[in-house]
Amino acid sequence: MLSKGVFVYSKTPGKPPSASALRKTYQVMRSDLNIKGTLYGGRMMYLLDEIAATIAEKHTEKVCATLLVDQLKFIAPAYRDDFLIFEGAVNRAWNSSVEIGIKVSAHAPKTRKLRHIVSAYFTFVAVDESGRPVSVPPLTPVTQAEHKRYLEADERRAQRLAGNKK
Ligand SMILES: CC(C)(COP(=O)(O)OP(=O)(O)OC[C@H]1O[C@@H](n2cnc3c(N)ncnc32)[C@H](O)[C@@H]1OP(=O)(O)O)[C@@H](O)C(=O)NCCC(=O)NCCS
Repeated sequence: MLSKGVFVYSKTPGKPPSASALRKTYQVMRSDLNIKGTLYGGRMMYLLDEIAATIAEKHTEKVCATLLVDQLKFIAPAYRDDFLIFEGAVNRAWNSSVEIGIKVSAHAPKTRKLRHIVSAYFTFVAVDESGRPVSVPPLTPVTQAEHKRYLEADERRAQRLAGNKK
């Protein structure tokens, strides 16, 4: 239902993305740098996975395992002392899996001019004590942007699942 420009899913009693969305800041240290003086890609991937897992577990209230990461793109480098701003949210929840979208921006301490440096999608599966998949709560998009991400997530999942068959 469209009400005053806001999508409301009245029949789906799910949690809104805002309930588990996260914004986190990290300052790049010397030990994070490679020989070129820019942030290690692996360090960024570690930070992304940690934040995405926190979001997945907040939404599902279950232990979650990283199943796959896709469309991870290093758009621009980050440098020493840069502040990295991680913004992530659940895009969609299915039966036992969720997709988390994360965007990372960076700015130097002095300039404060934001650069979009990384984006990625993570798929997590909620698991029980034996590591078997378990069901997750539904997600209910509220804003127009969340609704768009919700629909697009299903298309990406279809492509990923098609990849399983190859
Ligand atoms: C994650 C794990 C528990 C999934 O177990 P599995 O037996 O392969 O699970 P299933 O085949 O039942 O699929 C589980 C979910 O993943 C989804 N899935 C499987 N392949 C997928 C793909 N290519 N793209 C998107 N989703 C996929 C399934 O659709 C299902 O989601 P749904 O219930 O919401 O429909 C298992 O693969 C595992 O333990 N992997 C190792 C995880 C790990 O060590 N991660 C790193 C550290 S956390």
